Amino acid sequence: MRENVLHLLKSRLILPLFVVEEPIRDIEEIPSMKKCYRSSLKETVKIAKQAEEIGITGIALFPAVPERKKNSYGTEALNDRGIIPETIRAIKNECPNVKIITDVALDPYSSDGHDGVVVDGQIVNDLSVECLVKMALAQARAGADILAPSDMMDRRVYHIRSALDNEGYRDVGIISYTAKYASSFYGPFRDALQSAPKFGDKKTYQMDFRNSNEAIKETILDIEEGADAVMVKPALSYLDVIASVKKKTREISSETLVMAYQVSGEYSILRNGLEDNILSTKEAILEPIDSIYRAGADCIFTYFAIDYLASKAS
Ligand code: PBG
Repeated sequence: MRENVLHLLKSRLILPLFVVEEPIRDIEEIPSMKKCYRSSLKETVKIAKQAEEIGITGIALFPAVPERKKNSYGTEALNDRGIIPETIRAIKNECPNVKIITDVALDPYSSDGHDGVVVDGQIVNDLSVECLVKMALAQARAGADILAPSDMMDRRVYHIRSALDNEGYRDVGIISYTAKYASSFYGPFRDALQSAPKFGDKKTYQMDFRNSNEAIKETILDIEEGADAVMVKPALSYLDVIASVKKKTREISSETLVMAYQVSGEYSILRNGLEDNILSTKEAILEPIDSIYRAGADCIFTYFAIDYLASKAS
């Protein structure tokens, strides 16, 4: 008897994609993320189509924006003709059944490389939330199905939910990055988007990886504020957090989903292990993802989404 029958449903895997506004090449492998690509709008739509064909129903979009369009307020994030709104419309056109999840955080648009607005070297929470709400509305207008605030500012779920409801976007969901740790495993992602902080680190708003009670506190707050799903990130070093967040979530609400994000650093370690034949079997892709599921994640963001489904099929 296999206890956790981990026939992970296809709809439980979410594929993150990197779209580049002014690409040098149409598609290029990310140096620190082998077999993972950043691509032009056109090429991203093609990848989305392939993903849809293999059965993926959720795509999370992340933009790489030219340096000259960045400023402290990340105002390019509000541009209805910006790279994310354009990509949403193009994918919706080609793959109407794929759900599009967009990232709400200023870092790809911020000249400071921070998720919020920086004034005198400090990230200012409430001012950041104002910008994030406008960013969220721009994404909703373009047709995003689910918004995923990854910025970790306080009260942003409440303000985004209220703004969506007021503007008539009641059906747009929110996945809140609830327990997002200040982790060293985001390095390859920041390479991919050239979005690393220009000074300091993200420890004033992301969580200390030594903390777990705080994850429970954030879970309660985010559900109260109106999140449809809460997320733990990274995943593999945080299986205990996923399990306790799941338990708390189920105590409060039967409907709220728990997500986990197997992040870029976790991906690259495994991918390099496979590429170098240190790990010799595809099972090495399945095992961590099934473990994240076993720990309690209802859905998993993973760069291995396509490989996972292909391994299951073979
Ligand atoms: C941006 C964001 C990050 C990731 C997802 N959204 C990076 C960060 O917080 O610095 C990381 C994803 C990954 O490493 O795969 N707010």
